[in-house]
Amino acid sequence: MNQPSPINSMQNQELILVLDFGSQYSQLIARRVRELGVYSELHPFNLSIDAIKERKPKAIILSGGPSSVYEEGSPHPVSEIFDLEIPVLGICYGLQVIAYRLGGEVNTSVKREYGPAELFIDDDADLFANLNEKGMTNVWMSHGDALTKLPINFERIAHSSNSPICAIRNKEKRIFGVQFHPEVVHTAKGKEIIGNYLFKIAGCQGGWNAGSFIERKSNEIRSTVGNQNVICALSGGVDSSVLAVLLHKAIGEQLYCIHINNGLMRKNESENVIKLYRDTYRFNLDYVDASDVFLDRLNGIIDPERKRKIIGETFIEIFEAEAKKIGRVSFLAQGTLYPDVIESTSFKGPSHTIKTHHNVGGLPEKMKLKLIEPFRELFKDEVRAVGKALGLPEEFIVRHPFPGPGLAVRILGDITKDKLIILREADDIFISELRKACLYEKIWQAFAVLLPVQTVGVMGDQRTYDNVIALRAVTSLDGMTADWAQIPPEVLAKISSRIVNEVRGVNRVVYDISSKPPSTIEWE
Ligand code: XMP
Repeated sequence: MNQPSPINSMQNQELILVLDFGSQYSQLIARRVRELGVYSELHPFNLSIDAIKERKPKAIILSGGPSSVYEEGSPHPVSEIFDLEIPVLGICYGLQVIAYRLGGEVNTSVKREYGPAELFIDDDADLFANLNEKGMTNVWMSHGDALTKLPINFERIAHSSNSPICAIRNKEKRIFGVQFHPEVVHTAKGKEIIGNYLFKIAGCQGGWNAGSFIERKSNEIRSTVGNQNVICALSGGVDSSVLAVLLHKAIGEQLYCIHINNGLMRKNESENVIKLYRDTYRFNLDYVDASDVFLDRLNGIIDPERKRKIIGETFIEIFEAEAKKIGRVSFLAQGTLYPDVIESTSFKGPSHTIKTHHNVGGLPEKMKLKLIEPFRELFKDEVRAVGKALGLPEEFIVRHPFPGPGLAVRILGDITKDKLIILREADDIFISELRKACLYEKIWQAFAVLLPVQTVGVMGDQRTYDNVIALRAVTSLDGMTADWAQIPPEVLAKISSRIVNEVRGVNRVVYDISSKPPSTIEWE
């Protein structure tokens, strides 16, 4: 389902192309540029010269990377990028690529430099203009190799005690390189340095923000859709909510949303979706309570991947049947995000599947629907900003991610209605106590898990033999890696005592202290 990013969506807007040489910070560069109001895209290091020209970038940034430029098989960009007459900025490995290509020298034997360093500015005419730092600023280094000889026609514009040539410039060709990482927050004036590159050197105007995105996308959606209808699966999560509101703004009554209750939702979830979208926004919203179908098919199923497969297939079957009833539907809207797009084309290649994450995959081909994916160019926090600009209530924007298979992967073992009731109540207490303690927004994802074991307890004078609830809460930037959240003991104590006292059938609560990796966020 991943296609190359659509070129037409970016015409008439300033674009900064970031070429990815494999650094863990590559995405961050693209985000920093966008935060400064200029649209940017991340592409693999070997993007062809034709593809680069077609996108008409205002400037190029070469990211860092773990390789060494002289190593066999190390990544190199097409050499023509230095002849495009647009600015190029190399960061860390990107700087070394510039040096290697344009007649400089890189020494591979110097000791690694990792962490904070003092950068002494030798020239503050452009890249380091207006930093107000009196010639020295703190930067973040992470490199093994370093420049030992300037490339031809380049001059040094900054140095550090470990890197005599720490920043370089070819003024005439507007090619710059820095050994440090301006994109990370530890570089005190990183934002200003990137800003100088965009506005002073590349001549960008800025102005890319949620409001301009909404205007541009609404126009695009209207002209693509014409008088046809669009369907959209509205789960109530952040992405589908913002997607539906954007589409509704663009095409109003031509949007048909389908909310399928699979019986695996959290407490009051479907009710809240209906209240907001049908009653407040007055969307065409088709609500399908398919709980019994899903739960029947899941009866006795223990294997998590089988659960996912059954839920995915059943969802598609029901969605397809509902969509057919609407008629004149030519488009399916999906909330595909930029990280999903770059994941499939990135330097590192498609990531290894650990769990199959279902969405409405397979449907567009089957139903001969064309896709509308307005968020293909956005990061998650940008989708949130769009939601905010569209006036969506805060609780629909600041929401933890929730997996497509819902509570099915949080009830370990087989799923029953009784277990769903227990889990819903425990989860609701957990989340509401996190909100009360002002912790909800600091946590990437928090939820309760119902374990398939009974343990002995004592309540009053009675021996009990009941269920165990595990609490999972993690902090994370993108869900790819995660740390268990250090919730204060007094908050955990309150949650535990409320769950044991208020949820019938639970006599023990445990807290999961595993990080990802080696664990995953969900238990199944
Ligand atoms: P894991 O458990 O793999 O989860 O660390 C990473 C993120 O993905 C979510 N997740 C899913 N989302 N369908 C989804 O739509 C799935 O089958 C699925 N499994 C996990 C998980 O909640 C976390 O945010």
